[in-house]
Amino acid sequence: MTPILPATPKNIAHAARILQQGGLVAFPTETVYGLGANALNADALARIFTAKERPTQDPLIVHLTDKEELPRIVSAVSPAAQTLAEAFWPGPLTLILPRLPHLPALLSAGLPTVAVRVPNHPVAQALLQQAGVPIAAPSANRFGHTSPTTAAHVWQDLNGRVDLILDGGETQVGLESTVVDVSTSPARILRPGGVTREMLESVLGQVTALGQKRNPEAGLPSPGLLEKHYAPRAEMVLFGGENAQETLFAALTEARAQGRRVGWLAAQEDLPGWEDAAAALYPLGADLPSVAHQIYAGMRWLDEQGVDVIFCRDVEAVGLGLAIADRLRRAATRRVGC
Ligand code: TXA
Ligand code: MG
Repeated sequence: MTPILPATPKNIAHAARILQQGGLVAFPTETVYGLGANALNADALARIFTAKERPTQDPLIVHLTDKEELPRIVSAVSPAAQTLAEAFWPGPLTLILPRLPHLPALLSAGLPTVAVRVPNHPVAQALLQQAGVPIAAPSANRFGHTSPTTAAHVWQDLNGRVDLILDGGETQVGLESTVVDVSTSPARILRPGGVTREMLESVLGQVTALGQKRNPEAGLPSPGLLEKHYAPRAEMVLFGGENAQETLFAALTEARAQGRRVGWLAAQEDLPGWEDAAAALYPLGADLPSVAHQIYAGMRWLDEQGVDVIFCRDVEAVGLGLAIADRLRRAATRRVGC
């Protein structure tokens, strides 16, 4: 059994020692929980891939205490990278930068680049400082599953596979960091996240984002961008387009007539009059930050209710909505109207 310990100074010091000795510690960041290992220790990195059942072609993110630590990991910091680091670190932004040759190959799946971020969470910061090493940390879930936003979620996926889980409560953002490739001009968002495209553009000028409909045969610009990713266990249907609300209501009515157990991730404005329409209801918050904060927790909770299918309505891909819409598409087994 993996212990879950509250993130007190004493337990953080204990966790730092585990990392120094090559062990695995799950810890909170402002986005989601991470599964941490010493980024400079190839054996410790190998344990991450085993614990998550993650393919080794999928590179990891290295966490640093501060941008001043970049020279430990990367060979060059372009002006655009410098601007973004100054504007958004610590925070939910990951930069893809040229890596130093001595780093373990597993860290970045043999690529010439490495993903780096400075997390904005007191527990992550304290752990980094005490461990004194860069910490490689993917999200602390089994590969393909939704990312964990509580210590209990981590335990459900990784119990017995990690040495310690530090409990720092619910993570704030609820979705993974924004991954940006600054080697191109304009810079490219590889994965939308907590720092929005609009925020990036406010300091960099134009920024491009990968289209939402990718051709799987065209290859993947970022190895972690598999279409089916970040998914609940149940089948999930996403309703979008102009008639999304009507189609959703019709599907709820039909599913009930067929005796299917529907779990509904429900938008506030859809609820009045439909509160009893689903077998299990998870009401989402009224604004985009609340929806982002709850969306993975909602999928996990509906899975626990043993529903046959999860219904959710699409969000407009603006601001934080771009990241939410992206995760909903990856989670969905079927899309209607979008
Ligand atoms: O918010 C987050 O980013 C969380 C917390 C724990 O920091 N971490 C996280 O890690 O989501 P992970 O491993 O689940 O996602 C890493 C993403 C993947 O999409 C991966 O393909 C991309 O970063 N990535 C990593 N290295 C890369 C590289 N060298 N080039 C392009 N993409 C890279
Ligand atoms: Mg992940």
